Amino acid sequence: MSPVLRTPRPTSAASHAAAERTGHVVLRGTEVPARAHACPGTPTMAQVVVLDGTAVPTPAHYRTWSATLAAHGFTALRTGALAPRQAAQAEQAGLVCVQELALLDVSAPFVIGKVTTGKVTTGKVTTGTRRLRESELGIAAEIDAAAFGLTWALDATMLADIRTATPSHRARVVMADGRVAGFLVSGRAGRTGYVQRLAVDPTLHRRGLATALLRDSLRWMRRGRVRRAFVNTHVENTAALELYRRHGFVELPERLRVYEGPVVR
Ligand SMILES: CC(C)(COP(=O)(O)OP(=O)(O)OC[C@H]1O[C@@H](n2cnc3c(N)ncnc32)[C@H](O)[C@@H]1OP(=O)(O)O)[C@@H](O)C(=O)NCCC(=O)NCCS
Repeated sequence: MSPVLRTPRPTSAASHAAAERTGHVVLRGTEVPARAHACPGTPTMAQVVVLDGTAVPTPAHYRTWSATLAAHGFTALRTGALAPRQAAQAEQAGLVCVQELALLDVSAPFVIGKVTTGKVTTGKVTTGTRRLRESELGIAAEIDAAAFGLTWALDATMLADIRTATPSHRARVVMADGRVAGFLVSGRAGRTGYVQRLAVDPTLHRRGLATALLRDSLRWMRRGRVRRAFVNTHVENTAALELYRRHGFVELPERLRVYEGPVVR
């Protein structure tokens, strides 16, 4: 794999300040606005978030970003889920595919069936949802790490940032035994909806909690007159694929890919 970085760039005081203030590094120097977060499981790995999901970063973009990341002490970078055109550029930059994601969509009217509550056997499980409070982002991040595993986990800052990825969003939690048991962040841009992040505490799986969250999300999209909603998940994530299929989502032929590569000074 060829290195992503050519020339180290001096780090601006503003970038350092931004990293300290908000927990992310602003990636400047290209026409594609982006930022980076330290991956919770591998703090030397930078998760690069491109703010305009339709932008197609080129090898030159990755080189520029790598310089900033190296100056901030990162040794590797990870992309978001890339569509084929974006993936081709990442490959040209020498990055390597580390995860393949299935892309699913559903068109209105959405399937919003009944929530199953009959399986609840331990304590009191509420299948209603409520707003994810700012103070609960840390708890949501713990659930995220437990559900996805530390390698793919998002921390509280990243979860907070997901909410700004679309013009409007909805972040909800579901409660069980008096505590937050799962969360879902959805986004909406015009008539398109996105199920952005969904995780349920692994000790409380198969109790209808994700179903409650997804129903809430689809209802919100319906109120917003969303015509088509998208979600992506790992190709082997049977639980999620089954959950989404039950709500009318259909897998598209197109796959999304996540790439990683070293950041070299
Ligand atoms: C996917 C996930 C959110 C499901 O949460 P959950 O609260 O257990 O889901 P529900 O209880 O609402 O399940 C609803 C339906 O989804 C399907 N499902 C859920 N888990 C399943 C599993 N392990 N295997 C097969 N189907 C499964 C079933 O059809 C289930 O209905 P049933 O229990 O009546 O058979 C949960 O497993 C999770 O957090 N996984 C890790 C993170 C993740 O994958 N997030 C989504 C990816 S984007």
